[in-house]
Amino acid sequence: MKKRPVLDIRCLTRDYAGNSLFSKPHVNRALDDLTMTVDAGTIYGIVGESGCGKSTLARIVMALDRPTSGEVIFDGDELFRLNDKELKRKRRDFQMVFQDPFGSLNPRHTIGRIVAEPLHVLESRPGRAETRDKVAAMLESVGLTAAHAERHPHEFSGGQRQRIAIARALITEPKLVVADEAVSALDLSVQAQVLNLLMELRATRGVTFLFITHNLAVVDAIADTVGVMYRGRMVETGAAQEVFANPLHPYTQVLAEAEPSIEKFGRPATQQKPMPAIAHSGMGCSFRGRCPIAAARCAVEQPQLRTLLLGRQTACHRAEYLLPSAQSAEALRI
Ligand SMILES: Nc1ncnc2c1ncn2[C@@H]1O[C@H](COP(=O)(O)OP(=O)(O)O)[C@@H](O)[C@H]1O
Ligand SMILES: [Mg+2]
Repeated sequence: MKKRPVLDIRCLTRDYAGNSLFSKPHVNRALDDLTMTVDAGTIYGIVGESGCGKSTLARIVMALDRPTSGEVIFDGDELFRLNDKELKRKRRDFQMVFQDPFGSLNPRHTIGRIVAEPLHVLESRPGRAETRDKVAAMLESVGLTAAHAERHPHEFSGGQRQRIAIARALITEPKLVVADEAVSALDLSVQAQVLNLLMELRATRGVTFLFITHNLAVVDAIADTVGVMYRGRMVETGAAQEVFANPLHPYTQVLAEAEPSIEKFGRPATQQKPMPAIAHSGMGCSFRGRCPIAAARCAVEQPQLRTLLLGRQTACHRAEYLLPSAQSAEALRI
């Protein structure tokens, strides 16, 4: 069966005006011509260091922000060409889980009210009894109980609150859930439980996840496909295990080497420092200053994503040098 994309992102660019007291006005390009496809029923992991544009991508996919240019085609419709009414109808199909399990739930509301809240966007809202039943079933499917609906957020641990946030995201039976650093604030053992829950929900409900994190080990543990971002661009994509075992972009190599826990999920990850922002020149590869294999061409020509091996894309002019020799012949055939 041919895989069907639920999300098709084309040439997405988002510029912010970079005005501050301490610098000249400049354009801060948070997303730079980013293209990616997410197949239905998969977990697509996005990795990249702090500041590379992951949350900007999440906000645009959720239609909480607009791109400067480019398209987001969700389930066949370009989101930013829909009118308000059409977009409102579409919102039931994509929901989000945020990083902060403490800040994202209103402390004054009961869990029942919080989980039911997205149902308000539905055209035919369920009645009280049906809503109560839906909330109870949803709480049970994330490992909580119907009785928890009466309680308030402060009565729960961080991991339980993230389960509540997941229940809220799933109540409208969305096709896509965007999780932005959804487990990053949790203890490691709790992270593992929440990741298991997400994998179970994918299997039982067929939900597609766009799973965003700075932590490679987390993506390695749950994602089918991974996209590696660097300074607003997608620099490598492919099956998660293959990308980390055999990076085809020098930046992915740097990330994988800097991550001691990639071998085994559960060891603490190193803290990645954000890279200093540089003005966007539009010329050449933005990784070339840090790249061990950069050549003259890399300074003048921006590398585009290209298929190097079956199912493996890289935006590196020199990626052939990273291939294990057995695969070089295979690459030449593509
Ligand atoms: N609302 C905003 N206004 C101005 N600049 C922003 C805004 N949101 C994000 N940025 C900038 O865009 C870049 C990417 O940010 P972000 O998407 O939050 O990265 P990440 O989630 O990968 O850490 C950063 O340089 C950030 O400063
Ligand atoms: Mg972020």
